[in-house]
Amino acid sequence: MQEIVKKFERLRAEARLGGGLERIEAQHARGKLTARECIEVLLDEGSFEELDMFVQHRCNDFGMEKKQIAGDGVVAGYGEINRRKVFVYAQDFTVHGGTLSESNTQKICKILDLATRTGVPVIGLNDSGGARIQEGVASLAGYGEIFQRNVLASGVIPQLSAILGPCAGGSVYSPALTDFVMMVEENSYMFVTGPDVVRTVTHEEETFESLGGARVHSTQSGVAHFAFPNGMVLLTQLRRLLSFLPSNNREQPPVVLAGDPPERQEHSLDYLIPDDPLRPYDMKELIDKVVDNHDFMEVHGGFARNIIIGFARMDGGTVGIVANQPMVLAGCLDIDSSVKAARFVRFCDCFNIPIITFVDVPGFMPGRNQESGGIIRHGAKLLYAFAECTVPKVTVITRKSYGGAYDVMSSKHLRGDLNFAWPNAEIAVMGAKGAAEIIFRGDLKKSDNAESLLKIKTKEYADRFANPFRAAQRGFIDDIIMPSSSRWKIIRGLRMLKDKQITNPWKKHGNIPL
Ligand code: HXC
Repeated sequence: MQEIVKKFERLRAEARLGGGLERIEAQHARGKLTARECIEVLLDEGSFEELDMFVQHRCNDFGMEKKQIAGDGVVAGYGEINRRKVFVYAQDFTVHGGTLSESNTQKICKILDLATRTGVPVIGLNDSGGARIQEGVASLAGYGEIFQRNVLASGVIPQLSAILGPCAGGSVYSPALTDFVMMVEENSYMFVTGPDVVRTVTHEEETFESLGGARVHSTQSGVAHFAFPNGMVLLTQLRRLLSFLPSNNREQPPVVLAGDPPERQEHSLDYLIPDDPLRPYDMKELIDKVVDNHDFMEVHGGFARNIIIGFARMDGGTVGIVANQPMVLAGCLDIDSSVKAARFVRFCDCFNIPIITFVDVPGFMPGRNQESGGIIRHGAKLLYAFAECTVPKVTVITRKSYGGAYDVMSSKHLRGDLNFAWPNAEIAVMGAKGAAEIIFRGDLKKSDNAESLLKIKTKEYADRFANPFRAAQRGFIDDIIMPSSSRWKIIRGLRMLKDKQITNPWKKHGNIPL
């Protein structure tokens, strides 16, 4: 017995060394942590329970039978983050480049199955050369098995992905199927085809970074929701992100009371909106001042910045924030912002997170690029997401709410539960000047002084429609509130909506315009 125990201890120690000291040093020299180090940083101290430490690959081709390393390139198990259970797997780049084999696929699938069965979030730490080439189709089959599980787990448990090194080829699709993707700047990359293939096919000269680095994916493609300067920061922020989320779709998000008075008034908000309706202001200032302890975790902060999304707490409970940003493209809705917000709204709806929407939107972005790029199809995604969503929805119109965008942005007509407007809100089909130009086109053509007539008619239209009263008279706006009282009004609304029950008609699933 003692001999066996000793043997296991020796095997454990070997497994912990992964690909060996030399490769660990090489990993450090690249500025990267090893898989085990990542898990140590990520999880509460001493909470990791490793599974399948002794798994070996079964490949006998290309001399692989002589290259056995216990664990086979992925470290997997469960542990705790802030004393809440999580499952985790981390690809170990020091073992065959963290590549996916048939055996380590089974380890990852075991984790995904256990996480889904037990209703616990799963975190994948990616650092891999992709399919293990020596294993051929067995490795491709492995990816397929993982994708299938990612899809079945979607909307059941939160799935989070960190990209801490290479993630190339079809392997990008597992992170892409998960809820949030975090990348490390200048040390991680994701692409379907690498620079060499790109050069051959399109004759474009690209680097790993220019093709699939964190900057590209967090600002242009939208593949990554976050980009952080190094692995340590990323893992710390992953812990923070998880603190906002429930463990599964049957749970409510955790409540963290941090002593910020719910009735706190923010008088500076009464002066946030500039007198000139064409001047921007920073919507983040409003979010910051309204949420608990000014603690807002922005998601997708570098991508489609004309809309802001992210998590915060109000009255201790998690809320998802969706807000137009007048500082960027005047806050209008375009293709990227619609898709960005739609996915976020659906995530919140999956996981019982109430949605607070701050509206200052002049409309959809005009232009040929937008039309030919499919703004109709993509704008419909956001409309669809808000319309199907059943979590509590509180909307505050801070200034403009024009045209179709008025409907889309969690309006009363899309089952907004509480729709507030600030006194200066303008809710209309379009801006007053544009409206006057259309309605009075004939009169303006005939007039000797068209400019002054247009001014008069613009004011007439603005006085009549560019205010919140018309909408309030119809009950489309539940109340006109002072900006300074927004926090308290929203919290009271959330308390009232706490036990909201609403179900959509039975269906297999809807057909969101993808
Ligand atoms: C087997 C691999 C491997 C792979 C790397 N290694 N990629 N082994 N299959 N795909 C091994 C290397 O042989 C090496 O082993 C160790 O991992 C570290 O790799 P290095 O090349 O020394 O590291 P580095 O210089 O940092 O380069 C990393 C890399 C490069 C950029 C990832 O290794 C690379 O380009 N690999 C190939 C990537 C690739 O084409 N993957 C297939 C993608 S297609 P030793 O023993 O020397 O340490 C794909 C399809 C999936 O994944 C489809 C799913 C649907």
